[in-house]
Amino acid sequence: LSSIRVDVSDVAPGTQLTVKWLGKPVFIRRRTPEEIEAANAVSMDDLPDPDARNANIDAGSPAVDINRGLLPPGAEEGTDSEWLVMMGVCTHLGCVPLGDGAGEFGGWFCPCHGSHYDTAGRIRKGPAPQNLPVPPAAFVDATTIKLG
Ligand code: FES
Repeated sequence: LSSIRVDVSDVAPGTQLTVKWLGKPVFIRRRTPEEIEAANAVSMDDLPDPDARNANIDAGSPAVDINRGLLPPGAEEGTDSEWLVMMGVCTHLGCVPLGDGAGEFGGWFCPCHGSHYDTAGRIRKGPAPQNLPVPPAAFVDATTIKLG
């Protein structure tokens, strides 16, 4: 598996980077406290896909916010992370969703057929069946994320 390193030192809270990995877009968003709070306020019953879809944790883990974020060095296990790393590929038919708070849930919106993802990248409304997947990713230092 080929891996790349991404410098995230210029990514301010409330903004995101899109990089290409294995020919596909990957969204790296540094979330605001409000975005994290919004994600945590959602009941599991309101998630069409209850699976975290995170390659870095046990398969089948629940899609709670702490199972979606990527922890930076020094952060305590089991805490929320402002960093969200996800494939930028709609789980319906593969369009690239719009970000920066797009859609009815303040996260991402896929304009192809109207799928709305929330601030943790979880599908909330529309035809997409699954949450945006979290690829293999890890911080290698405080400002560098390795994909793959
Ligand atoms: Fe995104 Fe159909 S490809 S909603």
